[in-house]
Amino acid sequence: MVSSGSAERTLVLIKPDAVRRRLVSEILGRFERKGLGIDAMVLRRIDARLADLHYAEHVAKPFYPALRDFVTSGPLVALVLSGSGAVGLVRGLVGATDGRLAAPGTIRGDLASSSRENLVHASDSVDTARREIALWFPELADPGTEPA
Ligand code: PPS
Repeated sequence: MVSSGSAERTLVLIKPDAVRRRLVSEILGRFERKGLGIDAMVLRRIDARLADLHYAEHVAKPFYPALRDFVTSGPLVALVLSGSGAVGLVRGLVGATDGRLAAPGTIRGDLASSSRENLVHASDSVDTARREIALWFPELADPGTEPA
């Protein structure tokens, strides 16, 4: 188990490119081998409305239409991971946004070569994780958390 830092939960999406490329178990295995727990997990295809809520801070950006088309293009795996310092730990395992720039040893560095089809989303802060978990898994939401 992960043993330092405070216990946290984080929201991860294993995106449609990873499902298409049969990389779900490879990616999930990296999280599990690091000692993170799986608190919830579902395979689902999302619509544009949920994409817009999830990526609310990016909807006005020029790249967003391509991102929305991509994330709604097929099923993805949404999960909640838990462990000490889980938010930062998972971001480190995932690597930089652009797979071409991500460090070897990270999921994107080893397996992705794009900034759009980059296999994984992971919450970027404890506050974001709280909001995203409330959006995707309302049954796990902290009391009083607004989902969007
Ligand atoms: S930003 O603007 O710096 O905050 O954006 P960034 O953190 O790098 O990326 C936010 C999410 O947008 C995705 N992204 C893209 N999608 C499609 N096309 C392009 N060009 C593109 N650039 C960035 C990126 O994969 C991030 O998705 P998530 O799921 O949050 O990792």
